[in-house]
Order: sequence, then C-alpha cells, then structure tokens
Amino acid sequence: MIFRLGDFHFPDAPSRLYPDTPGRPWVLEIGFGDGRFWPDYAGTFEAAPNYLGVELSGVSLLKAARRLKAAGLHNAHLTKLPATPLLREAVPEGALSEIVVNFPDPWPKAEHEHHRLLSADFFRLAASRLRPGGAVLLTTDHTDYFEFALAEAERSGVIRAELGQPPAAALHTKYALKWQGLGLEAQHARFVATAQPQALHGALTPYPDTTDPEDARVPHAVLELPADFDFSAFERRAVRLPGAGGASGDTVVLLDAYRSLRREEYTVLAHVVEGELTQEVLINVTQRAGGTTLVRLGKFGGPIITPGVKAAVGAVTDWLVSQGGAVRHLGY
Ligand SMILES: C[S@@+](CC[C@H](N)C(=O)[O-])C[C@H]1O[C@@H](n2cnc3c(N)ncnc32)[C@H](O)[C@@H]1O
Repeated sequence: MIFRLGDFHFPDAPSRLYPDTPGRPWVLEIGFGDGRFWPDYAGTFEAAPNYLGVELSGVSLLKAARRLKAAGLHNAHLTKLPATPLLREAVPEGALSEIVVNFPDPWPKAEHEHHRLLSADFFRLAASRLRPGGAVLLTTDHTDYFEFALAEAERSGVIRAELGQPPAAALHTKYALKWQGLGLEAQHARFVATAQPQALHGALTPYPDTTDPEDARVPHAVLELPADFDFSAFERRAVRLPGAGGASGDTVVLLDAYRSLRREEYTVLAHVVEGELTQEVLINVTQRAGGTTLVRLGKFGGPIITPGVKAAVGAVTDWLVSQGGAVRHLGY
C-alpha cells in the first residue's frame, strides 16, 4: 500500500500499520529504487517481516508498488518521502530490526558530502529507532562512501560496524547489476546499534480527520476585512522562519493565489521548507456568513501540521492584516 505523509501517525505503531502481523520484525528500506530488493529478501524469511520502503522518486514508487503486489506482500508499505524526517517522526523508538540501504546516492564531490545519508547524526537517529541488536545494512560499490559511512558510524559513538557479505538480494538490485556490469565490487557492512540514544520526535500532527471547522489543532484565523478589500493586490512573498537556536534555512513562500469558481473563496499556494521536509500546502481564505473571513489550512493533499505550516497560515493572515484586515481570533 502506498502511504502519503498524512497517512502516518507521529509516531506511528506497527499495530496500526500492520494490523494482521504486528509482532513480526520490521524492516525499513531507504531508497528502494525500482523495488527489486524486498520481494527477493523477504523470501529468505519464514514469514515476511513487516516492511516500510521510503523513496524520493515517484516513478520508482509505482514500479516498486507493482512488484510488491505481484509478490503478494500485504504487510509492505511504500512512501514517497525523504527518509530522515520519516524515520524521526513516524517510526517509534526501538521498533526496527533492520534499516537497509542499498547503493545510496554517493554524492562524490567534496562540497556535496553533507548530502550523504549515512552521517553520524543519521546513525544516532537510526540507533534510537532500532531494536537492541538491530542494524543498518549498507551495500555500496562506492569505496569513498563506504569509508565515509564507517567513519561517521564510529563518530556517532552508538554503532559498531561489522564487515561481511551482503545479503544475496542486495546484489540483484538495479544498481547492483549496473555496477557489476562495470566490473565494480560491492562492499557491505552491518552497523549494529550498541546504545539507544534518545532522539525525540518532533511535534508534528497529520491533518486531523474531523469535520469540525473550529478544530483547535487546525491552524486558522478569523478576520474582518475592509469592504473594499481587493485580493488582486496579492504578491509572491517569502518569510524566513526562526529556527530553534536562531536563524534557520526554513522558509515559507506564498507563491500564488487563486479564486474559487464555486464560492467566495481564495486559495493561496504556499511552499514550506523545514529542513529536509518540504510541503506544498493550500491556505483557504473564505468569506463567512456574518461578514468575517476564515483563513484556514486546506485539507487537500493531507498536509502535516508543522510549525512551518502554521507559519504559512500566519503569513497569509499577516498579509491580510497589512491590507487593512483586523484579526478577531487566532487558532495557530
Ligand atoms: C542509486 S539509487 C539505488 C536504488 C536501489 N536501492 C538499487 O540498489 O537499485 C539511490 C536511490 O535512493 C533514493 N534516495 C536518495 N536520497 C533519499 C532519501 N533521503 N530518502 C529516500 N530515498 C532517497 C533515490 O531517489 C534513488 O532512487
């Protein structure tokens, strides 16, 4: 089954994600590509472990979904997200038996090294989400990346690397075959968690499944707008978000505004960047009976209510205030 970000709970639980097999080991695969690994690897277990695959590419997602379906693997979910926020927010502590990374993007240029997935921070997060004795399994053809991962694991202080042979399924993936074709050899390490550091979840909530328009968890504001208010004055604007310790790269960009054909409503399209998590969200500005205007996060796309998403609703509200609006109530 394909999960959108908004389908997860934060954190989630195996009993909710895998109601028929909650007690089985749970494996996360990061960057599953066209999805060849899991049907092959799952076949080496007596009962297929629960599986969560995370990938950035939408094309890969569809290919992998077809493979899982053909293999009849029902306790396997796929999602199109960056791995780190998913691991941090959706996976509970001590839950995973393995995190599998086959042929990660190597980012060979020195100035791009910070894009590499298997950093010391990642290992600390991974160790917190693995069961005691659980491991990150890395298979790569890229010697520089392999050495980088070994050094970062050591630096994390919570992981012990064991070198060995990769599972056979890791040598049958699309990229494994590509590198074998070029005569390159795969290297493999099991990074075993030696401690369970505390790596806390953030404070994210999915868009609540409710029809109550005043639900306190949904960011919204109620304003009175001047009688001659004109939405066509809207201009694209960017708002920088203050990070936990001062300046951060997090940003809200209000990209454009659209008028509804159905009712007295405008919708603002906002791009919200918070670390690795980016969301495109819609903020509805709706005229209500009684003359007030409701500014509210749109449900479309199942947004996750993050500080940045709240700030996007705030940015639209601030703009309306700058155009003469008066705030009556704030719900964010
Ligand atoms: C070189 S490919 C390997 C694919 C597959 N594992 C294989 O062996 O054929 C790396 C994959 O990782 C995915 N990827 C890169 N960074 C990611 C991230 N932060 N989260 C999830 N997937 C990621 C890329 O989209 C790409 O499909």
